[in-house]
Amino acid sequence: MKITVIGSGYVGTTTALVLSNLGHEVIGYDVDTLKVKMLNNGILPFREPGLDQLLQEKLKSGRIIFTSDSRFAITQSEILMISVGTPSTLSGNADLTYIQQVIEVIATHINEPKVVVTKSTVPIGTNRWMQQQLEARIDTNKYPIEVVSNPEFLREGSALHDSYHPSRTVIGGEVNSAIEKVKQLYSSLQTSYFICNYETAEMIKYASNGFLAVKISYINEIARLADVVGADIDGVAVGMGMDPRISPHHLHAGIGYGGSCFPKDVDELLYLATQKKINLRLLKQGKHINDSQIAWFVQKVESLLPLKGKRVLVLGVTFKEDTDDQRESPGIRLIEHLLDRGVDEIRVIDPTVTSLDQIRWSKDLLDREKKRVNIFTNEDEAATGVHAVVLTTTWPQFSTYPWQKWVGLTESPYLFDGRNFLNPQEMRRFGWHYVGIARGVT
Ligand code: NAD
Ligand code: UGA
Repeated sequence: MKITVIGSGYVGTTTALVLSNLGHEVIGYDVDTLKVKMLNNGILPFREPGLDQLLQEKLKSGRIIFTSDSRFAITQSEILMISVGTPSTLSGNADLTYIQQVIEVIATHINEPKVVVTKSTVPIGTNRWMQQQLEARIDTNKYPIEVVSNPEFLREGSALHDSYHPSRTVIGGEVNSAIEKVKQLYSSLQTSYFICNYETAEMIKYASNGFLAVKISYINEIARLADVVGADIDGVAVGMGMDPRISPHHLHAGIGYGGSCFPKDVDELLYLATQKKINLRLLKQGKHINDSQIAWFVQKVESLLPLKGKRVLVLGVTFKEDTDDQRESPGIRLIEHLLDRGVDEIRVIDPTVTSLDQIRWSKDLLDREKKRVNIFTNEDEAATGVHAVVLTTTWPQFSTYPWQKWVGLTESPYLFDGRNFLNPQEMRRFGWHYVGIARGVT
């Protein structure tokens, strides 16, 4: 089938390449001309394991092309798949500006019947609204057009694996022939389909992210109690997760969830509920727990090591490992907390960051605050003379750092593990004052 994927970000590029690999002819369209140029040159504009190699393979085979030419993008394909961003506005609702732009572009260049597939996460009611918007702009007798909702569930860092092994394929729509076309896209994948109306499909996406967010907040809140009663929260999670009704996934305690999706999708759900005068108390509390988790952790740090005037090494600024995405990153929020507490110098190591201007702060920082943050690429230099190390992201390479040698390089060997990533017994044996999140009485 001929497919144009509109928006070449994390989801769009992954989806375009996977569809191409499944044997379809794919055009990737993006308004960002620099991104398009990079992609056509075989350079991935972001980091995602395995995707750069697939990009090069598919370009060589001639089964994918990236373009900023909207006419070409719209006219050449029967299936138009939308994967533009839907970020939060200041009020918490999803910003549909980019979706609106896509509607205009489709209406301008339509040349034959089309199926429009919405992969972007859009608020409940949006697909129906999109169908109406397109019908208002297009002569649908001449060019019938059908919008189909097909939300995406991939995770960054394992985007390829998740695309090839989807947990389920949700398709929401009104017209069977259009739904069948979307099923055909994935016919060579092993997947279970769930077919429903627009609103159900849209709600499945938000309710899933909301549930996973609440699940993380639940274990984080239990961790606060476990911490004072001496229970090991990782063991608690393992024991709970052995019950298939609970499952071990998204039950790992830490400094909270971040990323481009959980925070924004929770906000959109809460916004919609407020509009509809429904009080989503559980979700609100889940958000509140997440918002306060870093302060809780920093307080724990400060109860052992007063932070004013200290030098602290922070490991990780991406919102999780195996990605360069810093959107809503807990690591960055933690650095901002440390600055507020008067830490004199914050040193940062992250495999995706080599200079300070690459950091996406969550708030406006003063120049004198930024001057207290330094990016290091040499591990030993970074550890020399620090009063504490704080781990915020589970980059695999952090586990193989020369921890034993580092103890001797530090001013005081405090190690605060915000992700319960390192082995406490081993770290203590090396001489660290190791503190994780409710790691029990050892
Ligand atoms: P992104 O910001 O990485 O990419 C969006 C792309 O859309 C950008 O390259 C941008 O230039 C392009 N764009 C904007 N306006 C455009 C227009 N009018 N025409 C063509 N291109 C345009 O975003 P993302 O992380 O890939 O997320 C995309 C959507 O998928 C969001 O709705 C998000 O909630 C959802 N989603 C994301 C993930 C994830 O892990 N990132 C997972 C599931 C769902
Ligand atoms: C999440 C969902 O897992 C995907 O299914 C969904 O498609 C995507 O959002 C989306 O809608 O965009 P992603 O944000 O890429 O995927 O990554 P996750 O692995 O879910 O992690 C999100 C955040 O939660 C990270 O900050 C991670 O560190 C944190 N987390 C995750 C925990 O604190 N504990 C856990 O047990 C799991």
